[in-house]
Amino acid sequence: MNWQEACADVLRGNQITSKGFRYTRPAPHVYEQQWLWDSCFHAVVYRWFDPEMAWDELASVVHAQVQTGADTGMIPHMTYWQGGGTVLWREDTHSDITQPPLIATAAHLVHAKAPDTERLRGLYAPLCAYHDWFARRRDPDQDGLVMLLHPWESGWDASPRWDVPMGLNKPTNEASKAARHALVKTLHAHDMDAVRLQALDVFAVEPSDFNAIRAADLEALADIAALLGEDSTRWREEAQRVQQAVREKLVRADGVCDLMGADETPLVSPSAAQFVLLFGGCVTQAQAEQLVLRLQSADFWTRYPVSTVASTHPDFDPSSYWRGNVWLSVNWLIWRGLKRYGYDSMAQELAARTAELVERHGFHEYFNAVTGEGYGPALQSWTTLILDMLNEGQ
Ligand code: GLC
Repeated sequence: MNWQEACADVLRGNQITSKGFRYTRPAPHVYEQQWLWDSCFHAVVYRWFDPEMAWDELASVVHAQVQTGADTGMIPHMTYWQGGGTVLWREDTHSDITQPPLIATAAHLVHAKAPDTERLRGLYAPLCAYHDWFARRRDPDQDGLVMLLHPWESGWDASPRWDVPMGLNKPTNEASKAARHALVKTLHAHDMDAVRLQALDVFAVEPSDFNAIRAADLEALADIAALLGEDSTRWREEAQRVQQAVREKLVRADGVCDLMGADETPLVSPSAAQFVLLFGGCVTQAQAEQLVLRLQSADFWTRYPVSTVASTHPDFDPSSYWRGNVWLSVNWLIWRGLKRYGYDSMAQELAARTAELVERHGFHEYFNAVTGEGYGPALQSWTTLILDMLNEGQ
């Protein structure tokens, strides 16, 4: 398979221009809007064959950054370039929630391959405002860990991790979807205010993986600041603060947890989110060793790794959306984490098995961790992350 050609075909087929901005839809018809973390992944892939488009993708994603009001600085998880956002949100052009922050990470990777100081500088102020927004609006107890107000913010929409925080018990797909839609109304009724929402019995979670991703993004922002001759110390210190908070509060003897509610009830979930701590540099080398042993177990190292839910867990359902499938977004984060901690041969094996999965079953949105069967759209943009995993591994 010529991976570069195949991946370029998928991304170019999903590209669109709107109001003078270019972006890539996750998948036409099913996902027509622009999604935040998807676009960061797309930029990482574009840098291998179309760096101009990589920079354009990042420029379009910061376009909808909130400019007024309490949430100034927030970058929405969805941009509705053609309008229509009010079906769910308060604005016609964008959603009111965010998604995993990977823009600085992506910009730094794009710049390393195709240096463009002007375009990097153009992203710097929006990125600073974005990370300031997290600290100001999403960390009510000021412990360095940010809180999510909705499962959609995690990117793991329907994961069993969120059943308890959503007040659900073995929900059907429909019930879980209805609960997510209903929650949006509650968020609006309380002005998206984390302090007020945390006091209610609704979704308010400090997740392990999201905070690890934020730590990595703060590190990348520090690197970008240094490249631009700006103050990098501030971001470096902030990154270390988040890493320390994750290590001290979320890594426990019985596993990695997310914290729920104002009283910070730990939720130890047997999910692949724990391995994302490697990506964020949030664990010691000894803790990394423990995580890698767990990753190698049959629970997660399924025929096609990595299963996002432990395969022996009663909630494991490899054909059901986010309830035990393989996602390239998650595999990419884990693969980079393995490399960060020196597990190069395992990272290579993960890339090879992921390539086998995509080669046999296509560029689907997500896959059955046991059979490899693909689900969702057949040409999902972020599944092209395989190109980055193969190219970087060389
Ligand atoms: C689904 C995924 C989310 C992703 C979006 C677009 O909603 O759960 O993580 O960003 O699709 O691909």
